[in-house]
Amino acid sequence: MSDNIKQKQISKKKSILSCIQPTGDMHLGNYFGAVKNWVDLQKDYTCFYGVVDYHAMTMPYDVKKLRNNTWELIFNLMAVGIKPENLFVQSLIPEHAELGWIFNCFCSYGQLTRMTQFKDKSAQVSQSSTDQFISVGLLDYPVLQSADILIYRADYVPVGKDQEQHLELTRDIAGRFNHSIGKEYFVLPEGLYTETPKIRSTADPSRKMSKSAGDKHYISLFEDEARIRKQIKSAVTDTGDAQEGQMSEGVTNLFELLKVSGGKEEYESLTHDYNAGNLRYSDLKQAVANQLVTLTNDFKDRKNEIVKQKKDIKYQIKQSSAEIRKRAQETLREVKDMVGLLNVKL
Ligand code: TRP
Repeated sequence: MSDNIKQKQISKKKSILSCIQPTGDMHLGNYFGAVKNWVDLQKDYTCFYGVVDYHAMTMPYDVKKLRNNTWELIFNLMAVGIKPENLFVQSLIPEHAELGWIFNCFCSYGQLTRMTQFKDKSAQVSQSSTDQFISVGLLDYPVLQSADILIYRADYVPVGKDQEQHLELTRDIAGRFNHSIGKEYFVLPEGLYTETPKIRSTADPSRKMSKSAGDKHYISLFEDEARIRKQIKSAVTDTGDAQEGQMSEGVTNLFELLKVSGGKEEYESLTHDYNAGNLRYSDLKQAVANQLVTLTNDFKDRKNEIVKQKKDIKYQIKQSSAEIRKRAQETLREVKDMVGLLNVKL
């Protein structure tokens, strides 16, 4: 194939952008609900995946832990199959913050105060912290998110329902910007709402798996075998919440975990047992635990390999951020020019 044709095919590929905050550990819920999808999307799209450390500063956080969490998350993402060349760290690409500033001037204060996530998170800060400090960063966070997305002119943004409003805001900002400069500069990005499994807490299947709810409500992707077995063994099955003839949330969750973690055959045979009315929950739990142990052992092995080459990998991520930054710089240069800022080089 000639280079020319190849080039055309590459440039025809649609682009994807998504980001994740470096707030510590990654659990099965994050993985099956989002990150696994990111891994799969790499086959067909040009992908930009950001670890957004600027975003992590918007809620009360531990200054001493942030940098380490950022690297940890990079290692974790690589261990599950994200390619390093698709990864960048937000604060290494200052153009995000710069475009964010420009976008501040294309977004109304009222619209930001109406964001559901702002309302929830500011309420959370008011309740939990003693000084009740709500930063402007928390209010402004969706504008920075818009910059993350639009700076790469991404076609699609794989996000969960909780981010739908932020994506809508991004489209508003892009539209307002286009209108004010009189041309369709930014393509309005679309959400990519792939059906992903919603993993629930095994200790309380009425809520989703989440770190913030406490230790027993999540299982880390790099968990010790003994702890996985213990958590699954004590998983809630029937609490009498299910209607006659319907599977309870806890049992449904265990079946879901079995299916998504690769135990298809057992999933089928145990479903058969369930339907026949002779499923033993202990058998289901055993199967789920075995499957999760196999899966997480694999991740742990890969993570160990990565951590061994820590230095090289940090260098690699610096390089990939620099490469990705070029695209951000190009957008910012054009935007500054269009909005009337000086376009001189110092
Ligand atoms: N707000 C997202 C979250 O909390 C993280 C995020 C920041 C993001 N920038 C983004 C997601 C851009 C998608 C695209 O989960």
